Amino acid sequence: MIGLLLSGKMFRGNFEDRDEVIRVLGIETSCDETAASVVMLEDAPAGAEILSPRILSPQILSNVILSQVEEHAAFGGVVPEIAARAHVEALDGIIEAALADAGVTLADVDAIAATAGPGLVGGLIVGLMTAKAIASASGKPLIAVNHLEGHALTARLTDGLEFPYLLLLVSGGHTQIVRVAGVGDYRRWATTIDDALGEAFDKVAKMLALPYPGGPNVETAAAKGDPTRFAFPRPMKGSAQPDFSFSGLKTAVRQAATAIAPLSEQDVADICASFQSAVADALADRVARALLRFRTDYPDKAEPALVVAGGVAANRAIRETLERLCAENGFRFVAPPHRLCTDNAAMIAWAGIERLNADMADTDAFDFAPRSRWPLDEVSTPVVGSGRRGAKA
Ligand code: KG4
Ligand code: ZN
Repeated sequence: MIGLLLSGKMFRGNFEDRDEVIRVLGIETSCDETAASVVMLEDAPAGAEILSPRILSPQILSNVILSQVEEHAAFGGVVPEIAARAHVEALDGIIEAALADAGVTLADVDAIAATAGPGLVGGLIVGLMTAKAIASASGKPLIAVNHLEGHALTARLTDGLEFPYLLLLVSGGHTQIVRVAGVGDYRRWATTIDDALGEAFDKVAKMLALPYPGGPNVETAAAKGDPTRFAFPRPMKGSAQPDFSFSGLKTAVRQAATAIAPLSEQDVADICASFQSAVADALADRVARALLRFRTDYPDKAEPALVVAGGVAANRAIRETLERLCAENGFRFVAPPHRLCTDNAAMIAWAGIERLNADMADTDAFDFAPRSRWPLDEVSTPVVGSGRRGAKA
């Protein structure tokens, strides 16, 4: 892992007396992953005078994730009540496992960071209430973390990326381009006006009778298909408006599938390949606009970067398209390891550390109520229909 460049005295305010290392326990329960993690960041020796920026290395001491995919598979999507109940059953054990894997006890942890939104409210309540109970019983500070901030800051944990940079978040719950300029300094430049991209993959899979979760199965089928057989629309391509839209493409897929039903295996493969190629094209067009805007807004940025996050970032065709686009535009392409791109608690613990480090943590979040909707950027105009099930990002 590359070191993280941070400057200045760390952990001021309430954290005067901590020792040279800070460890944060992160908890994530916003959708269908129950996750806990301990992340550590070294501090300078107590009382040391910091004269110049130092290289510090964050370390993920543990990263335990329990996916509920099997519980929801029969329903073709996440069922909120099932998710909440599964979190209740699993969370204590997952936290214990995260502490054990990290080789620490609660006494070694300096703060608890829990996802407080956005997401499915049942899961959020389970995670945040558990965090409140642990923090209150152990006398530790509690930080309520925005799940999207976790995604937004992950590339600093994994790649030591410096601000500002662009984030493309493509998951089952969100499709956004966010300009990340500092801890707490986010601007959403684009979002979907209807379906999230992962949701579009899942719906296309469902109409082709491919199993849930659809994305990986669509990708596998597409590998054997002809991407030119169906001329599906490239939503928003060329539009001056920056946003995404996938519902028209999904409808076009449905119409094509209905028109040639019953579908052979080759038909399914060709539809998947043509759909994936339309998605990659549409994404490239939208992202290209954002890269241009970033160049204009930050003309002096030496090595601008595009970070991808979210489950859809696992898709190889999409990844290759984005890599090519970045290379053509002089952008570095940063794709954190898959396990840290999708929902996890290391990113939540890390967001807690970043907030502490920037003196921007409310370490007394005991009265914080879970927020099923909680935009990263409170300034950008909300887009109707962009929140889907108000679920995970
Ligand atoms: O980030 P994630 O694990 O969970 C959230 O939604 O937060 O993303 C899951 C989504 C699902 O919609 C899934 O179908 C999609 O990511 N996905 C993919 C691929 N792997 C997962 N979509 C396209 N291609 C893939 N290989
Ligand atoms: Zn997420």
